[in-house]
Amino acid sequence: MKSFKLNNGIDIPAIGFGTWQIPEGDEAYRAVKEALSAGYTHIDTAAVYGNENSVGKAIKDSGIDRSHLFITTKLWNTERGYDKTLAAFDKSLATLGLDYLDLYLIHWPANETQFEDWAAINADTWKALEHLYKQGKVKAIGVSNFPKPYLEKLLETAEVIPAVNQIEFHPGHLQEETVELCKAHDILVQAWSPLGSGRILQDETLRALATSKHTSVGQICIQFALAQGILPLPKSTNPENIKRNLDMDSFELSAEDLDTISKLPAMGFSGSDPKKVTF
Ligand code: A2P
Repeated sequence: MKSFKLNNGIDIPAIGFGTWQIPEGDEAYRAVKEALSAGYTHIDTAAVYGNENSVGKAIKDSGIDRSHLFITTKLWNTERGYDKTLAAFDKSLATLGLDYLDLYLIHWPANETQFEDWAAINADTWKALEHLYKQGKVKAIGVSNFPKPYLEKLLETAEVIPAVNQIEFHPGHLQEETVELCKAHDILVQAWSPLGSGRILQDETLRALATSKHTSVGQICIQFALAQGILPLPKSTNPENIKRNLDMDSFELSAEDLDTISKLPAMGFSGSDPKKVTF
């Protein structure tokens, strides 16, 4: 597995297995077991997915040495603030059955739609992540769903520059301004819903490209993210898709292909605008 280097020198496997919407219990356990045996070494979960327990069990039962795995989880929105964040981190760690995390993210920024003091809340929450990082309980810290203005605000008070910003990214939803800011600060962009959660798989341009390369639209989307230094987190419960989403070598996207995909009209947006969400 190829890797990216985070801005603190830590290596992160270049494709991660996303577990959003994989229900706790058998389904999450089986999907993560399947992913680990297919060769994924990077698993992305979150407290709010409700599946940390099964994800942790699958990790343990895989028998893979912990040091060969990269595990991410995220702080849910109800737990923002310094003390609550520290407690939520410990709870996630216990539910996963781990003694350290590789990456911990603020799942969504407090936003101006819900909070007058959104910037102070985010700064305070970030301080807690910095504390966990300095204690060595987590190898890297970052944010998720922070559009440019939110990230800029956080950077004004952050002592540790976030290593990652995990955002919705797929053909038809590129968030260029945010990606550009991340690149300028050496913040790795991770793509959630790199396949638009299935909503863009029928796009004719992408289908034609996939046919011409003897591959799937899913793989085109994954390569598209990687080609611009963005780390995709494809989710699947289908063993066939789990395997093929790891296959990075069977085709290449040319500069012209990348240009074509970049120019696709807006499509597949989840509808969750971080500035406006009320959860
Ligand atoms: P399935 O679980 O049946 O594989 P995203 O990662 O953008 O959230 O997209 C996930 C959705 O895309 C799921 O519905 C998943 O279905 C589907 N999917 C994942 N990989 C592929 C693939 N290689 N080809 C087609 N569909 C895929």
